[in-house]
Amino acid sequence: MILSYTGLAAAAVALLSATTVQAGTPLNIVLPNQECGLVMFDIYGEYGYPGEYYDDYYGSLCQDPVALVSQYASLFTYCKPSEWNDSLSIMAQWCKGYGEVDLIPYTEFEANLTKEAIAALPVIESEDDLPEDSNVTAPFLMSQSWFDHARVSEHWYDYEQRIEAYYTFAGFGFWGIILVFGMVQNLIRKTIESRQGFVYADAEGSVVRPGSNGKPGVFGRAAALARKYIITPSSMPPYKQQRFLGCTIPTRAESFVVISFYIVTLILSCVNYHGQADNIFFGGNAPQIWRYMADRTGTMSYGNLPLLWIFSGRNNIFLWLTGWSFGTFNIFHRHIARIATLQGIMHSIGYTFYYFTAGYGDYYYENYDELWWTAGVVATVIMSFVVLFSFSFFRQRLYENFLIIHIVLSVLLLVFLYYHTNIFDLQYYNYPFILTCCVIWGFDRFLRLVRQVYTNMHIRAGKGFQTTKSTVTYHEAANILTIDVVPANPNLFPGPGQHYYIYQPMRFFGWENHPFTLAHWSQPATPADDLHLQFWVRPYDGWTKKLVKQCKANGGSTATIAPTLLIEGPYLAHEPLHTFDQILLVAGGSGIAGVIPYLQDYVRRIDQGAAAAGTNSKIPTRTRNVTLIWADRKEENLRFVAEGSLAGLLNRPDINVSFHLTGNAQPSAGVAAVNTAANVSSTASSSTDNVESPVTPVGEAEAEANEKSNVHDFTTEKGGVLTDVTAYKKQASAGGFRVQAGRPDVLSTVRKLAQSVHGTDSRLAVMVCGPNDLADNVRHVVAQNMETNRESISYFEESFGW
Ligand SMILES: Cc1cc2nc3c(=O)[nH]c(=O)nc-3n(C[C@H](O)[C@H](O)[C@H](O)COP(=O)(O)OP(=O)(O)OC[C@H]3O[C@@H](n4cnc5c(N)ncnc54)[C@H](O)[C@@H]3O)c2cc1C
Ligand SMILES: *[C@@H]1O[C@H](CO)[C@@H](O)[C@H](O)[C@H]1NC(C)=O
Ligand SMILES: *[C@@H]1O[C@H](CO)[C@@H](O)[C@H](O)[C@H]1NC(C)=O
Ligand SMILES: *[C@@H]1O[C@H](CO)[C@@H](O)[C@H](O)[C@H]1NC(C)=O
Ligand SMILES: *[C@@H]1O[C@H](CO)[C@@H](O)[C@H](O)[C@H]1NC(C)=O
Ligand SMILES: *[C@@H]1O[C@H](CO)[C@@H](O)[C@H](O)[C@H]1NC(C)=O
Ligand SMILES: *[C@@H]1O[C@H](CO)[C@@H](O)[C@H](O)[C@H]1NC(C)=O
Repeated sequence: MILSYTGLAAAAVALLSATTVQAGTPLNIVLPNQECGLVMFDIYGEYGYPGEYYDDYYGSLCQDPVALVSQYASLFTYCKPSEWNDSLSIMAQWCKGYGEVDLIPYTEFEANLTKEAIAALPVIESEDDLPEDSNVTAPFLMSQSWFDHARVSEHWYDYEQRIEAYYTFAGFGFWGIILVFGMVQNLIRKTIESRQGFVYADAEGSVVRPGSNGKPGVFGRAAALARKYIITPSSMPPYKQQRFLGCTIPTRAESFVVISFYIVTLILSCVNYHGQADNIFFGGNAPQIWRYMADRTGTMSYGNLPLLWIFSGRNNIFLWLTGWSFGTFNIFHRHIARIATLQGIMHSIGYTFYYFTAGYGDYYYENYDELWWTAGVVATVIMSFVVLFSFSFFRQRLYENFLIIHIVLSVLLLVFLYYHTNIFDLQYYNYPFILTCCVIWGFDRFLRLVRQVYTNMHIRAGKGFQTTKSTVTYHEAANILTIDVVPANPNLFPGPGQHYYIYQPMRFFGWENHPFTLAHWSQPATPADDLHLQFWVRPYDGWTKKLVKQCKANGGSTATIAPTLLIEGPYLAHEPLHTFDQILLVAGGSGIAGVIPYLQDYVRRIDQGAAAAGTNSKIPTRTRNVTLIWADRKEENLRFVAEGSLAGLLNRPDINVSFHLTGNAQPSAGVAAVNTAANVSSTASSSTDNVESPVTPVGEAEAEANEKSNVHDFTTEKGGVLTDVTAYKKQASAGGFRVQAGRPDVLSTVRKLAQSVHGTDSRLAVMVCGPNDLADNVRHVVAQNMETNRESISYFEESFGW
């Protein structure tokens, strides 16, 4: 599996570089030594040369003897000898490229280009002496002053074109540096983790820790400071998953990158404009500056397109290499898209002002008959709408349709941009920018298909051709769906932190797919057994609601259906919790699905170590104990997990689970309640209580409302979920479990555990999966309690959204 991805990644890189090679130098740049040759085109191209090529710009310039003798005479008179070869080569290149004619070389006119012959040519002082479009029937030489003036105009034009290219590539350089930094950092982290992820048990059963942290060096201290102040905390604590005025708030490190890019872009859009009075192309200063600004922002906007595509797909080489989360990439994706859109708008405004300040107002309106022009206008409008709809205000209202609108508009955008720059050679804009986007996009879609085929179709020894089978059960009182999938391919290596996208292909909207975290799985004991993957789903409005309807329509008490489902995955986000000495898992509501697999992973690793018991046997985890705090609003949910996945783990000395029942329900008899219900609201501090934050602590009523909207809670009927899933081992409930009433004081537990590792060389991992405000507050407290001289605590979160 991993191998096949590496192979595909290599193929994609090869494909990408192949397009770049084929494209040659992107953007239409003219090198300084070539400028002089184009001055000849600028001057002599203004006139008519009666004959075969009359009225044909490149035909005359490249083939007409009168035009050619004039150009060569001026070129050899005024251009520096060091510029001759490059100037001649760009003239030939443009003749071929734009005019599709050959440039007749100067050697054909040797006789007319001797010193004497040139000296004998008439000299024309300026364009005032020979009005534009006059017919020229005999060669002439331009004057020195006419040449100098045109040379300066040509220079600034070419200079701006070069600047556009350099600044566009500066954007690639910026993100190149960021990505290389991410990859190096990921490599270092992986190397360190591979040395920290296990311990040895010696003969006496005591534990030897290799690579014990010791005194952290300068590098370790710097990393600790970066984690405490930059990488972990939000830019506006505690807002991270929670929206602030409808906006996503990135971490400080993400903000730093994004703001830097805004600043770099702003500076590069504003510097190095040069106007020339009486420019031969544009006349006054205003149209020149508008035009240069418009060209630059337009090109830089194109340059941002491949970047924003690089930060989009779910199958993404850079996502794997940097180890950054999809959420981080998504923040970059959105901000690059906003910048590209602003640049597109500036490009449109710039061209509008250019036309009117230059006095070309009539052409401005006529241009709407031209496809390239109108395509550009439409592209700017589309781009603005894509960005507008992506603001969370619209995204949340559109959600079911957001993705499809986003994709359709993006396709249209690429098509219109293609026609917008189709007037240029393909290698200038369409290959390097538009085609690259298509390749990146195609790569993601192709890998999705590969993953689907790999998981959903398989030939198994003794069983023949297999497809994926699934059962979906709806537990009405609980309002929860359990999706049990038997993938066709049993070799999927399920593990914690994985998620899969689920499709229902036989529907009209069969391409629609939804991500779910793998909550539970059962490994086949023998090769003949099936692998079961289980997802716990809280129904929303869209597809999940339709599933609920289908289950209900099936009726009966079981409400189980067996729809055709396809899964695509696994997408891995396995956090290295096993490299920490202690783990604190915090779950709110259905977030339990995201953390339980880590607890089970811990137990499996300990068991593996025990199975290999002996002198110097390796235990593949460094962790000594795990604390799980879980709050839910329904006792049935607590019971479902406590008697299901957690059964048998609750009495272990190395696992400390505390269940918290929030909401109005009170622990029933048979479940030991720790607090008395009457004291719930006073002891249950709301999770924001102890945080110095701009949020005022919420009252219990508000907190309840929050919980309703944020917590994906499983309101299950008693044991309902488990009874249907007979594939899983049913464990005898070990005489009940302790439930505390009211919200857990998660923050003080975090503080207490954080203090307990202070000044030791032990490390603590805190992982949260739950409501946004819970996750954000824990993140904030973790950052506050990090030590400054070593990486004592790490914060991880599993979020059901991005
Ligand atoms: C990595 C990840 C893991 C998840 N794990 C679980 C889980 O284990 N259990 C669970 O109950 N829910 C989980 N979710 C949330 C789940 O994907 C959504 O609840 C589900 O998609 C809702 O679909 P809907 O059509 O019924 O709802 P809609 O009303 O259409 O959408 C409601 C919400 O669903 C989410 N959503 C829908 N489609 C997508 C999509 N293609 N990509 C990303 N988000 C989408 C959006 O956040 C949206 O706000 C997870 C989400 C993510 C991103
Ligand atoms: C220039 O030459 C062309 C082609 O020979 C002719 O049609 C046109 O009338 C001439 N223009 C002038 C102003 O003489
Ligand atoms: C080049 O020189 C020859 C001979 O001197 C002359 O006949 C011819 O017209 C010249 N060609 C041009 C384009 O001036
Ligand atoms: C220009 O090109 C010719 C051959 O194409 C070569 O002989 C000459 O040295 C070149 N001159 C310069 C200045 O590069
Ligand atoms: C958990 O493990 C840590 C590190 O080994 C240890 O310091 C701590 O005392 C343990 N806590 C419990 C409750 O066992
Ligand atoms: C278990 O964790 C709770 C806090 O959640 C703590 O009060 C309790 O002392 C812990 N028990 C053990 C045995 O570590
Ligand atoms: C609730 O607990 C507090 C202390 O935590 C105590 O002072 C108070 O009397 C208790 N209230 C009731 C109703 O038990």
